[in-house]
Amino acid sequence: MRRGYFITLEGADGCGKTTQSRLLQEYLEQQGYEVVWTREPGSIGLGQRIRELLLYYDGEVAPRCEAFLFLADRSQNIEHVIKPAVAEGKIVICDRHTDSTIAYQGYGRGENIEELTYLNNLATAGMKPDLTIVFDVSTEVAQLRVGDEKDRMEAAGIEFHKKVRFGYLELAKTEPERIKVVNADNSIEQVFEDTKRIVNNMFKK
Ligand code: TYD
Repeated sequence: MRRGYFITLEGADGCGKTTQSRLLQEYLEQQGYEVVWTREPGSIGLGQRIRELLLYYDGEVAPRCEAFLFLADRSQNIEHVIKPAVAEGKIVICDRHTDSTIAYQGYGRGENIEELTYLNNLATAGMKPDLTIVFDVSTEVAQLRVGDEKDRMEAAGIEFHKKVRFGYLELAKTEPERIKVVNADNSIEQVFEDTKRIVNNMFKK
């Protein structure tokens, strides 16, 4: 049986990642791969309830509580969706995963990055993506794309989102083998060309 792959897509709000993940899914299916698309927070079942809390709860949320909710959702997704699909030889595309926690809760909210890394490992039982693509977008372009109807995270402000972007770029520097950066200020077509090239390179390895 063909080996499965685990690909994660990352980037600040408004980077166009969700459009790219759909395009990538279609492209891979056309190549004959079986693809499972999932997202964090909130893929299936309990995760969807956690997602509602994370994005639409309108009271105070302690930063550490926020982190634990993302991590709780992740451990469900790994166990129930990602691990089984990869074991069956499928390609999993996950829209956000561990690097979101480091970029948002670590660089964005200021939680301790080493501790978050440890907790990420606990949540994933050590399973790592084969490839992560960060869609890097300038904060100004991203804010325009997000528009006026913002969820709790999107409403966190421009300074917060600048830190998130910086966090992703730092992560990419520390793990250049796994994390590839695409310039997402470019057109959808150009971004997708870059994405395909990166994914096809992964298959060659
Ligand atoms: P979502 O609507 O899925 O955003 P997008 O379409 O941009 O992926 O909302 C997820 C939000 O949660 C997004 O603002 C990023 C944030 N997030 C974290 O802060 N930490 C995490 O670990 C994850 C997975 C997401």
